[in-house]
Amino acid sequence: VLRAFSLAGLLALLSACTGPQSTLTGAGSEAAQVETLFWVMLVGAVLIWVFTIGLSIYATRVHPERHSEKTGTRLILWGGVAFPVVVLTALLVYGLKLMPEFRAEANGPTIAVSGERFWFRVAYGVEGEPGVVKSLPPGGVESANEIWLPVGVRSAILLGSPDVVHSFWVPSIAGKMDMIPGRVNRLVIEPVKEGVYNGVCTEFCGDAHGQMGFRVVVVSPGDYEAYVAAQSQPAAVTSGPGFEAFMENGCDACHAVRGTEADGSVGPDLTHLGSRLTIAAGILDNTPENLVRFISATEHVKQGVEMPAYGMVPNEEIAAIAAWLEQLK
Ligand code: CUA
Repeated sequence: VLRAFSLAGLLALLSACTGPQSTLTGAGSEAAQVETLFWVMLVGAVLIWVFTIGLSIYATRVHPERHSEKTGTRLILWGGVAFPVVVLTALLVYGLKLMPEFRAEANGPTIAVSGERFWFRVAYGVEGEPGVVKSLPPGGVESANEIWLPVGVRSAILLGSPDVVHSFWVPSIAGKMDMIPGRVNRLVIEPVKEGVYNGVCTEFCGDAHGQMGFRVVVVSPGDYEAYVAAQSQPAAVTSGPGFEAFMENGCDACHAVRGTEADGSVGPDLTHLGSRLTIAAGILDNTPENLVRFISATEHVKQGVEMPAYGMVPNEEIAAIAAWLEQLK
């Protein structure tokens, strides 16, 4: 009965390993390799476990007088040393054989992603190789916390950070890579299935580390081009009470809205905020209510966030700012 329960538990655990943030969904070619490696390693580990536990049980039950010392030594050498060495070596060789696949060349766009406390700066249409690009982003069209990728194409992601070490991971699509201040890491990533996936920061970087996420939107190459073209346009609405309140309260000191005088670069570029799926680095759905909630009490939504709360600003003004930002599609 106990065995049946543990088997049912294991199956339930494994069935939870799907969804937008799982390595076992096979939505990217690197993730597919990691998935295969996972199953092969699991089978190898189970083999070793069954064999060595079997030997241990056998050793406790056997009568010493029925076996010579020689048999015992032989069992230890073959079962306890040779067998695990052979299985582990085979797994190591298999694992190393997969490595070159992870270093495949890119044949798609180059996108710069900068991990910052506690959000992701994204720049499309960047050029340059690691070593040439000294800081991120080196130009291009800026967005935040949302990365669009063309399906079936190997895109190059240049990873950097201006403050502390962060780490970039989209489990469904690719393996993870660190974002290190002062250097640019290059990750080639090939999504094979259209859809929306979750990405996370996987290096402890401060209070809001656990709330530092992003979305990856995988679309056809045509839709990707259209998206970048739309993002490169200036803001759709550049006047009105929301915009005025935004400027009067000094939001432009940190945020840029292209097409207006707002050109701050400390925080996320808000030129097309209304087009994004989430706000506050992937933790809240992008709705006017959530935007009001975040602006008026940033700390309550996200502990340790760098943006100060604007609770002292009258509610109507915050609502106007939120309404204006939501128009920026
Ligand atoms: Cu950024 Cu953890």
